[in-house]
Amino acid sequence: MDDTTARFRADRHPSESYEDILERDTRAIPDHLRQGPTRDLGDEGIPASDYYDRDHFAKEVRHVWLKVWQWACREEDIPNPNDVFVYENVGKNILVVRQEDGGIKAFYNSCLHRGRKLADGPGNKVDLRCKYHGLAWHCSGAFKHNPIGWDFPQFQRMDMSLPEVRVETWGGFVFVNFDPAAKPLMDTLQPLADHFDRYDFANRYKAAHTSKVVPCNWKVMAEAFMESHHTIVTHPQLAPFLGDVNSQYDALSDHVTRQFTATGVVSPMLADRRFGDMDILKAMAAAGGSHVAGGRSSRKDGEVAKRPVRARESVGTPDALEEGVTARMHTCEVTRAALGAEDGWDYAQVSDAEIIDALLYNVFPHMSFWAGYAPNVVYRWRPNGLDPETSIMDVIILKRVPKNGPRPQPVKEHRLALDEDWSSSPMLGALGPVFEQDMDNLPQVQEGLRASGTGLVHFALYSEMRIRLLHVLIARMIAQGEARAGA
Ligand code: FES
Repeated sequence: MDDTTARFRADRHPSESYEDILERDTRAIPDHLRQGPTRDLGDEGIPASDYYDRDHFAKEVRHVWLKVWQWACREEDIPNPNDVFVYENVGKNILVVRQEDGGIKAFYNSCLHRGRKLADGPGNKVDLRCKYHGLAWHCSGAFKHNPIGWDFPQFQRMDMSLPEVRVETWGGFVFVNFDPAAKPLMDTLQPLADHFDRYDFANRYKAAHTSKVVPCNWKVMAEAFMESHHTIVTHPQLAPFLGDVNSQYDALSDHVTRQFTATGVVSPMLADRRFGDMDILKAMAAAGGSHVAGGRSSRKDGEVAKRPVRARESVGTPDALEEGVTARMHTCEVTRAALGAEDGWDYAQVSDAEIIDALLYNVFPHMSFWAGYAPNVVYRWRPNGLDPETSIMDVIILKRVPKNGPRPQPVKEHRLALDEDWSSSPMLGALGPVFEQDMDNLPQVQEGLRASGTGLVHFALYSEMRIRLLHVLIARMIAQGEARAGA
C-alpha cells in the first residue's frame, strides 16, 4: 500500500486533512479545534419545492421561525436606558428596549388600541407613544396614558402592559424568541458558547454592517455559506491560497455545526499546478488579502476593492521567504504583528488557525459566527417578510475593543439597494467582491429550483452534511408542530 492509498478515506477528499495542516502549525492547537463528530443523515434527495412552495414556507414560519432563538441586534446598538431597536422577521415587528436597570426587554411593536406600530424606527424614546390616537406606554412596557380613556371602560379590566417577547443575551448579541415556552438560549448555543469563551465577543464592537434583500429563498442563501467546495468555480481567485475541498465539517449538536477551512495553503483542486509559497502569497495579495479579511475599502468606482483590514495590509508579498518559512507561517506572523499593532493585544501565542483560518460556526437555523482573533465575520439569513422567494442577508464584522480603550462606536447598518452590489459597500473591503460572486449564483439557483426536471435536490454526504442537517431539523420541527396542532 503506497502512502496515497494509506491516507485515502472514501468519505473524505483524498488530499491532506485540515488536521494534517494543523499538525504543521507553529503554536499549540486548542482542543476545541480538533475534529468533531459527524452525522450519517442518509443520501435521499429533498424536494426542490421546499425552496418556493408557499404552504411549506407557512409551516416553516409557524413551526420554526416562531420557535427559534434569533439575534436581533447587538447590545451596543442600545447602550442607554430607553434606547430602542426595531427588529423584523416573518411579518413580526418588535421593539428591543434597554431598561433603566440595564436589562433588556422586547415588545411586539403594535398598539393595543387598533394596532398601529408604536415606533417607526430606532432611537432613544421618552415613551412608546402611538402616533394614531396617542395611547402611550413607558419604555418598561407599563401602560402610561390614554387621552380618550373615558370611552374605553374595557381597558380598565384589561392588563394594558405591552406583551413581551423572550430576550436573552450572549457575547454582546441580543437574542429574541417568539415562543414563551422556548428552552433557554444556551440549549441552542452550546457548545459554541464554551468554544467562544476565549474570543470574548462581548468585548468586540461592530466595525461593519452591510445587508441586502436577495431574490432567493432564505435556505438558498444560508447554504451558499455552509460549504467551501464551491470555491474553485465561484471564487477561483481564492483557490491558490485556500484549502477548500479538504475543509473539516463537524456537527457538534443538533443546533451547532461548523466548517474549518485553512488559509495560506493551495487548494487540492490545483494539485496539478506547481504553486510555491511565493505564488500563494502573490495570489493572496492580488485578491486583496485572505478571504477572512474585511474592513475598509479603497475602492474607486468600477474597481474591485483591493484593501483588506489593516491587520492584513502588511501580509503583502516579500521578495523571498526564509528557509523553512511557508506562506502560511509568513501570513500568520505578519497578521499577528499587524493585529497587535492595531488593537494593542498580544497574539504571540495564539494558534495559527485562530489568526488566519475560516472557522465558521453555524447556529440553527440562520446564524454564523466566525471564531478566532482576526476580525470576526457574522452572518444572519432570514426571510424577507412573508415572501418565500426573497430573503435578507446581514454581514457584520466584529473587531476587538483596543486593549487600552476606548470602546469604538458601533457602525450603523448599511442596507444595499437591489441594484447595488456587495463590492460597493464601503465597509466590507476585500470581502465585498467575494460576496458578489456568491450572490451572482443565488437568483440562478432559485430559478433553477423552480425549473427542476426531477423535483429533487441532492447533498454531498460529508461536505454538505450541515446543509442536510438544516433540512432534517426543519422537517422535524414541522412534523412535531403539525402533530401538536392535530392532537
Ligand atoms: Fe394606537 Fe389608536 S391605534 S392609539
